[in-house]
Amino acid sequence: MLYSEKVMDHMQNPRNLGKMEDADGIGQVGNAKCGDIMKMYIKVSGGIITDVTFNTFGCGSAIAASSMATELIKGKPLEDAVQLTNQAVVEALDGLPHHKVHCSVLAEEAIRAAVEDYYHRQGLDVPGDCAR
Ligand code: FES
Repeated sequence: MLYSEKVMDHMQNPRNLGKMEDADGIGQVGNAKCGDIMKMYIKVSGGIITDVTFNTFGCGSAIAASSMATELIKGKPLEDAVQLTNQAVVEALDGLPHHKVHCSVLAEEAIRAAVEDYYHRQGLDVPGDCAR
């Protein structure tokens, strides 16, 4: 089968879907080639991501990747969230077809953008790890 059960599950039942009105950080990224856009919203308290939601206007793999990524960073410190790689997202999804791996990159980038936005809003310098 082209997609793993986990990918199908997250495509059909995305976790943490939707806009967050009172987000502390918002990251939006896009893929110029396919035109897909992903937006991540984070709520932060004491350096921990207490809540995270997303909106993805894109393919099913991008939706599954963003859904899984929100699950992986919820409750985690900001420093851990920015370390999340697209490979970790792909692994958690039990794999993506090769030509769909780029969709998971959007999730990694959107999280980093949201964390950076959080630091900017706080008037803080973005720690080295985020500024890659
Ligand atoms: Fe564009 Fe998947 S095809 S993100």
